[in-house]
Amino acid sequence: MVTIKISPSILTADLSNIGKTVGELEDAGADSLHLDVMDGHFVRNITFGPAFIRSIRKITKLPLEAHLMIEDPDMYIEQFAESGCDSIIIHRESHGNTLATLRRIKEGGLKAGLALSPETGLKASMDLLPEIDMLLVMTVSPGFGGQAFIPECLAKVSEARRYFAGKGLEKEIGVDGGIKLDTGRLCIEAGADVLVAGTAIVDSGNIKEAVRSFKALP
Ligand code: DX5
Ligand code: ZN
Repeated sequence: MVTIKISPSILTADLSNIGKTVGELEDAGADSLHLDVMDGHFVRNITFGPAFIRSIRKITKLPLEAHLMIEDPDMYIEQFAESGCDSIIIHRESHGNTLATLRRIKEGGLKAGLALSPETGLKASMDLLPEIDMLLVMTVSPGFGGQAFIPECLAKVSEARRYFAGKGLEKEIGVDGGIKLDTGRLCIEAGADVLVAGTAIVDSGNIKEAVRSFKALP
């Protein structure tokens, strides 16, 4: 049986209260924390950077995954690695040599993830797939929490799962954007094993119950 991991995104959390929220997520059984880094160029939103992640590192033992929605990820890999992240996810659509950046992440001893925006197919990334630890299929356009799930992205999840199975590769497939209980279930059926959920957990009013419901999904 596949184990499903829940990785809450704190994108919409109240940062004046972030210590309490992170504590609640950890107590609720979250498997990791998903940290959405946005630069105002790659996406229209601006969030936080390595200094913030360093502060989060001090208050939790949960694995931290940095989802870099920035134009030039290669320039910042060392800073994010030093901030205490356990994994770094970069976008296929960012500037630079994606393969070289993924290898730099791995050389630093971190896990490397590759994110694909909804309009990006899998085909142009086939050569990268054996190199990564996690494929993150975006199920909304990156930039903002609380958007509606795009069902057409499910086909990419199935395609990737078939590809990995065919090659005997054990890789994680995450989904990110508009993940609620119903859309999460569809993603699991398509082959996802990591659910990133922001508003459905952090804005639910009951973090413990929300994480419990997601973990009961399969
Ligand atoms: C969107 C981010 C997501 C987002 C998820 O660009 O990558 O991680 O915060 O939020 P929800 O679950 O509300 O779509
Ligand atoms: Zn994200």
